[in-house]
Amino acid sequence: MPTKIELFEVGPRDGLQNEPRDIPVAEKIALVDTLSKSGLRHIECASFVSPRWVPQMAGSAQVLVGIKRVENVRYTALTPNLRGFDDALAAKVDEVAVFASASEGFSRANLNATIAQSLARFRDITSAAKALNIPVRGYVSCIVSCPFDGPTDPAQVAYVVRQLRDMGCYAVSLGDTIGAGTPDSIQTMLGAVLDVAPARDLAGHYHDTGGRALANIDVSIALGLRVFDTSVGGLGGCPYAPGASGNVATETTARHLAAMGYDTGLDLPVIDAAAAQARAMRGTSDV
Ligand code: HMG
Ligand code: MG
Repeated sequence: MPTKIELFEVGPRDGLQNEPRDIPVAEKIALVDTLSKSGLRHIECASFVSPRWVPQMAGSAQVLVGIKRVENVRYTALTPNLRGFDDALAAKVDEVAVFASASEGFSRANLNATIAQSLARFRDITSAAKALNIPVRGYVSCIVSCPFDGPTDPAQVAYVVRQLRDMGCYAVSLGDTIGAGTPDSIQTMLGAVLDVAPARDLAGHYHDTGGRALANIDVSIALGLRVFDTSVGGLGGCPYAPGASGNVATETTARHLAAMGYDTGLDLPVIDAAAAQARAMRGTSDV
């Protein structure tokens, strides 16, 4: 039996949040509906953040309400505070994600909060979610380097991972927000993180700015990770991380893993159709 690897689709959120064109909700719904037929188990399709901070995600509730839900697919959303959590619940989200940073500079730029302040907000969310049986995923950004503070100490990544696990996050996704990671630096960072969390509870979230995301996935697989966040069409980036480009593309990663003998359970022609849809949504950019 080939080893299973899950690709956790973040394109409709991470992929689109940074796009300059005001993308109609109907196009976002159509993209999620195609992705729902591809064999993915998680699709991050919404973000209940301030529309002043990330205007592109303003229609998130309409997206969650408008999609055709497919059994065994969890539709997930980012929630930075209790207000976002309540709005996500009202839109019938299946799972939410809280997003912390390993560096203070990015935490301030992205959340207007110190790491400690953001973790306190996330504790409110995880305790509310626990009472309602809503799974919470944690993110840690800037796991290798921060656009404001420079290189990140792996011990600081491990500290934030531990905090997120202690508050009840079922998994923690490790974000190389600006794609600065190399197989060596990812391996060193994972060495620290694996002291506080088992590989089965971790995911790799590697932006491909440096063109090394696939190599970073390979080294992470060798250390036991089996879940990777990818963005269909390779779209995206974070508006609060200057120079960050998209997550590694779902279609590229799925082919890379298949060639190495892993089973992602994905229907590649459907993923390719979604990738074409996602690229067309960029409007003026390269399609
Ligand atoms: P703030 O300015 O400190 O908060 O922002 P505030 O409480 O003063 O509120 C400011 C305004 O936002 C107010 O509205 C609030 O009502 C409103 P106003 O009175 O000015 O009209 N507000 C909200 N509106 C809708 N939904 C909410 C909400 N909360 C407040 N939930 C805040 C703090 C956290 C809100 C802000 O910093 C924010 O929204 N940040 C999100 C930034 C973001 O979404 N970044 C991209 C996602 S993270 C990422 O991409 C990284 C990741 O992919 C991993 C990786 O790659 O590393 C996950
Ligand atoms: Mg990201």
